Amino acid sequence: MKATLAIKRGAAGETPRVEKFEVEFESGQSVLDALRMARRDLDPTLAFRFACINANACKECMMLIDGEVEYACKAKLREGETALAPLPKKALLRDLATEIAPPEERLFRPTKS
Ligand code: FES
Repeated sequence: MKATLAIKRGAAGETPRVEKFEVEFESGQSVLDALRMARRDLDPTLAFRFACINANACKECMMLIDGEVEYACKAKLREGETALAPLPKKALLRDLATEIAPPEERLFRPTKS
């Protein structure tokens, strides 16, 4: 089976663009599986967050999937096109990666200049 991911891409401050990635998949695979395949095989610059890979423990893979906030590791892939976008109420870093940790919990904090 084939799925097309229509991904809203760009960094903070840039005009966003939608890029499409077609991936082959098997029944039961997740949207996160497809994103990892797309990054491995098609575009290593594709940015998204994940840590636990399908255990639904880290909560880092949240994004908009066809307009709904979902965990990419829990959302099952389907044939046809699926729209992916970053969380709208979080600061955008790049592509699907947003700043999800509260400022006081971040290990890295930009230094003041
Ligand atoms: S990858 Fe950890 S909750 Fe989805």
